[in-house]
Amino acid sequence: MLDVADLHSHYGRAHILADVTLHVGRGEVVALLGRNGAGKSTTFKTIMGLVKPTSGSVMFNGETISGAGSHTICQKGLGYVPEDRRIFTDLTVMENLEVGRQPEREGAPAWTVEKLFSVFPNLAEMRNRPGGRMSGGEQQMLTIARTLMGHPSAILLDEPSEGLAPVIVEQMAQTIGALKSEGLTVLLSEQNLHFATLLADRAYIIEKGRIRYEGTMADLAADEEVRAAYLTV
Ligand SMILES: Nc1ncnc2c1ncn2[C@@H]1O[C@H](COP(=O)(O)OP(=O)(O)OP(=O)(O)O)[C@@H](O)[C@H]1O
Ligand SMILES: [Mg+2]
Repeated sequence: MLDVADLHSHYGRAHILADVTLHVGRGEVVALLGRNGAGKSTTFKTIMGLVKPTSGSVMFNGETISGAGSHTICQKGLGYVPEDRRIFTDLTVMENLEVGRQPEREGAPAWTVEKLFSVFPNLAEMRNRPGGRMSGGEQQMLTIARTLMGHPSAILLDEPSEGLAPVIVEQMAQTIGALKSEGLTVLLSEQNLHFATLLADRAYIIEKGRIRYEGTMADLAADEEVRAAYLTV
């Protein structure tokens, strides 16, 4: 469903991504793992057209999207939740959700506000609360829910567990698992291997802008050498 091939990108003269190749099949949850500064966010920004690739290609649903603008890419059904939560602090939960609303899309899970509230029950309880008066974890949930209002067929989640208390991390893993059950395809970036293990089918490891490892979560769990080299601090 999402095919990234030999992607390179630069910030000014700095060569950040080199030869990034990864694949996410329909209905899969795939983790892009790596330490701080490894290139996870840059990979997502390049897929979304926010950073222009210097070479390589991105295909989504069999169509080339590299070179398109981020708005066009969103409209093709690829949702994106950046690492900085961008909710509107003056708007209520309900109003924030409305901002994300787009027409339904064939071949993608369709969402209503009520259905989202069944996956995100704590948002239902605070539907009239302004975003600025929510915790970081609640804001993170709201950002994901708002993106789903666009009925994406696949979604990129940049470090969904970042800054969350351990109990909320478990909740977040369950929530993303529920989205998978609805048929959503998910590529998420993470430093937290435990979190990724709770919900991902497969993982890639990125370091210094290059993919260093590809395998199932079980393979990775068994490979202490790889984890020591690229993940643990
Ligand atoms: N706007 C920018 N201009 C120049 N260099 C940047 C910019 N954004 C990121 N970089 C550099 O690109 C590299 C990859 O950064 P990136 O944000 O993709 O890493 P990351 O894996 O998402 O890290 P983190 O886990 O800290 O979010 C780093 O060396 C970083 O310093
Ligand atoms: Mg990042």
